[in-house]
Amino acid sequence: MQKIILTGDRPTGNLHLGHYVGSLRRRIELQNKGDYDEFYIMLADAQALTDNFGNVQKVRDNVLNVMLDYMAVGLDPEKVTFFVQSEVSELSEFTFYFMNLVTLSRLERNPTVKEELKQKQQFGESIPMGFLTYPVSQTADIVGFNATIVPVGDDQLPMIEQAREIVRSFNNLYGETFYEPKAFLPESESCYRLVGTDGKAKMSKSLGNCIYLKDEPEEIKQKVFSMYTDPNHIHVEDPGKVEGNTVFTYLDVFSKPEDFEKYLPEYKNLDELKSHYERGGLGDMKIKKFLNNILQELIAPIRERRKVLEQNPDKVFEILRAGTEKARKVAYKNLIKMKTNMGINYFN
Ligand code: TRP
Repeated sequence: MQKIILTGDRPTGNLHLGHYVGSLRRRIELQNKGDYDEFYIMLADAQALTDNFGNVQKVRDNVLNVMLDYMAVGLDPEKVTFFVQSEVSELSEFTFYFMNLVTLSRLERNPTVKEELKQKQQFGESIPMGFLTYPVSQTADIVGFNATIVPVGDDQLPMIEQAREIVRSFNNLYGETFYEPKAFLPESESCYRLVGTDGKAKMSKSLGNCIYLKDEPEEIKQKVFSMYTDPNHIHVEDPGKVEGNTVFTYLDVFSKPEDFEKYLPEYKNLDELKSHYERGGLGDMKIKKFLNNILQELIAPIRERRKVLEQNPDKVFEILRAGTEKARKVAYKNLIKMKTNMGINYFN
């Protein structure tokens, strides 16, 4: 069996630290390991339009933004095929046939779709078919490339389950044609859903609690210094709580043993820092400065690479165009295979 990796993002805004720990870091690891036959990363612009239909310009602008973020973070077009979903029309054709294998009630039960509908409320009771059926189109994105491994966050598990069900139904009806894809989750649960700088649920553009990969040093600093900590830790000598304290949540995710040596040599490791905080006598300022140093070091090279790439958007678009051309050929080949197995090939 070939190892085909495919994943993607909706281009609706710049990528932030939540994307970094939840998926980008993992993708770079996979890329550098090189243990795969193909690795596709898709800009899911068509999917983004399912809830941004009146705002094509936003999606369009963010195709470039997200591509810049991808490349700035170190994803390498020599090793990864980047493509735009809407330019691979074959995917719509897959979707059309896969729709026959899913019921309306099954789509209405999809937990991620349900959650999105609840949070956004933008559609009220009249949900557009395009939005409700995007999990079918996402199945096409995956199965159209016969992807075997799909690196995603846990919110995407229902999509992978839906894809697996469709593949099973298809193979039952028309014979073994597609693989059942497997999700590949982030390293640890703390990376699934990085909390925002306000300590609220998830880092998310709409909540305005993000640290972006393109943020300037001053922005990062200001966001770290206004982070939510423990509201009862008022004086330095007060004992403080570590659980639910955003600064410590971030330190759990981002700090490495070397960082202590470099920026906070009074402590050997995070456990020591935590126990001092819990005992009392350690101020918020100190832990925030430490976190700021760590994040500055992480983001600086990304921001700098991005600035260089931004100078030459034509080059970035050319990479995307070439990747899309390649992806389209693969999807076409798989589409013909699908239609042949279904028996809807009349002229050959
Ligand atoms: N739904 C994904 C997201 O919101 C984006 C996406 C579209 C995707 N098609 C995909 C992810 C196929 C993995 C595989 O982030």
